[in-house]
This record gives sequence, structure tokens and C-alpha cells, in this order.
Amino acid sequence: MASGILAGRVAFVTGAGSGIGRATCRLLARDGAKVIAADRNLQAAKETANELGNDRAAALEVDVSSAQSVQSAVGDAIAKFQQAPSIVVNSAGITRDGYLLKMPERDYDDVYSVNLKGTFLVTQHFAKAMIEQQQPRGSIINLSSIVARMNNVGQANYAATKAGVISFTEVASKEFGKFGIRVNCILPGYIDTPMVAVVPDKIKQQVVQRCPLGRLGQPEEIAEVIAFLASEKSAYVNGAAIEVTGGLK
Ligand code: NAI
Repeated sequence: MASGILAGRVAFVTGAGSGIGRATCRLLARDGAKVIAADRNLQAAKETANELGNDRAAALEVDVSSAQSVQSAVGDAIAKFQQAPSIVVNSAGITRDGYLLKMPERDYDDVYSVNLKGTFLVTQHFAKAMIEQQQPRGSIINLSSIVARMNNVGQANYAATKAGVISFTEVASKEFGKFGIRVNCILPGYIDTPMVAVVPDKIKQQVVQRCPLGRLGQPEEIAEVIAFLASEKSAYVNGAAIEVTGGLK
């Protein structure tokens, strides 16, 4: 039997093949949870799970923008550790930056489908499973972004979805409280992951200059807050939007 504050819990983490999702899998496993590393990129999810070991982690292919894919992921996830996950982390996300006047409809739709609709689908399907299995405590953690409040030019699609995630989180927290399921979101600043690797160096330098801590964040620094929200240490935190930005506004 694993020890740690999350012993006996199963976590389902999307976007687990990279960046914040991968770091989250590591820290939830460190705290004793069994982890399902889910990603559209199965190979990347397998790398995450293999690092943690077969007894503590399993990989799953999922496309969060597809209801069918998410629905079958619920059954597959329960089968992995014979238990519905009571921790769900919606970390899958994409950017398709571009100025509004030139933004192809496709880039708007793709970002919406993964970031906002994907969060909806995973939350809805996995919350149903938690409620059916009468999990005594559930925790759903969504990844918004400080961009929801900074509203950078060139990110109309991304900013709108991440602002949507905050409202979605609040509504879900109000609807699920009676089932013992808490729903919170995190607004990371600029975190050193493949998503930010494509941001031009000039922009990254400006961000670092504006950040009171004078540096980018590390994925583990977001994952630590996710691990806190997953655990009963945060038992009375519900419907919150927590900025983890090094002070960047
Ligand atoms: P990343 O690009 O390193 O990883 C994202 C992962 O999501 C990838 O493994 C990708 O394969 C997966 N993914 C993409 N579309 C998917 C789909 N349809 N179904 C399943 N998986 C899919 O990104 P990072 O940096 O780890 O970001 C994680 C979350 O945190 C995202 O929601 C992002 O918007 C958010 N965030 C990230 C920030 C940063 O500075 N890195 C800042 C604020 C928010």
C-alpha cells in the first residue's frame, strides 16, 4: 500500500505527456496517488507513465475535444485501477496565436475545442463516474491562465477560452459541492514548458522583466499547487481561481 497524503486515490491527468501535466503526474504519484497519464500523444503519455512505474501509473490515449474519446477514456480509466478517479486535472491545452483580423476560423475552433470544450467534456464525464461510484471526496483542477486577465494581443482565441475556464470552474463548483466534489482552477504565469518554448525570445524577456520574481516558472511549481488542491489539505477551497505567476499581473 502506497503511503502519502493521496494514498488510495486515483488521478486522471490530461495533457500528461508534456509540461505541467507531466510534472503533475510526478507529484501526485509522489504523494501516493495512482496516476492515469492521458494525452492525445500516447507515446508521450507512456513516457510519463513508464517513468513512474507500472504499479503507480498507466498511460491512456484521449482526445479531450471528442466526446466519444472522453467517454471511452472513463471506462478505460476505471479498468486500469478498478476505481473511478477522484482527482481529475484538465491540463491538455493548445495555442494558435495570431492577430484577430487575420485569425482563421479553424484556429479559433481548435483552441476552443481543446481548451474549453475539452475541459467541459472531461469534467462532465468524470464527475458522473465519481458520483456513480460515490467517491467520498473528489477534486477537479482546471488549467486557466493569467492570460485570462492580461488579455495579450494575438491571443483572442486562447484568452477567451481561459477566461471561460474560470467561469466554468465556478459554475461546476456550485453544482458539484453537494456531491463532495470540489472544482478549482489555476492561472499560471509563464511556465518553462514546450508551450512557452515557441514564444519569441523578445516576448519572454519582457515577461521576465515584468515578473517580480524575475524568471519563468517551472512546471513543478504549478504541480505543487495542483497537488495541494487534489488533497484534503485544501478541503475548504472550492470555486477558486488561484494565480501562480511569480507576481506577474
Ligand atoms: P504543453 O504544450 O507542454 O503540453 C500540453 C499537452 O496537451 C501536450 O502533451 C499535448 O499533446 C496535449 N494535448 C493537446 N491537445 C490535446 C487533446 N485534444 N487531447 C489530449 N491531449 C492534448 O503545455 P503546458 O505548458 O504543459 O500547459 C498545460 C496547460 O496549462 C494548458 O492548458 C495551458 O494552456 C496551461 N497554461 C500553460 C502556461 C505555460 O506558460 N506553459 C501558462 C498558463 C496556462
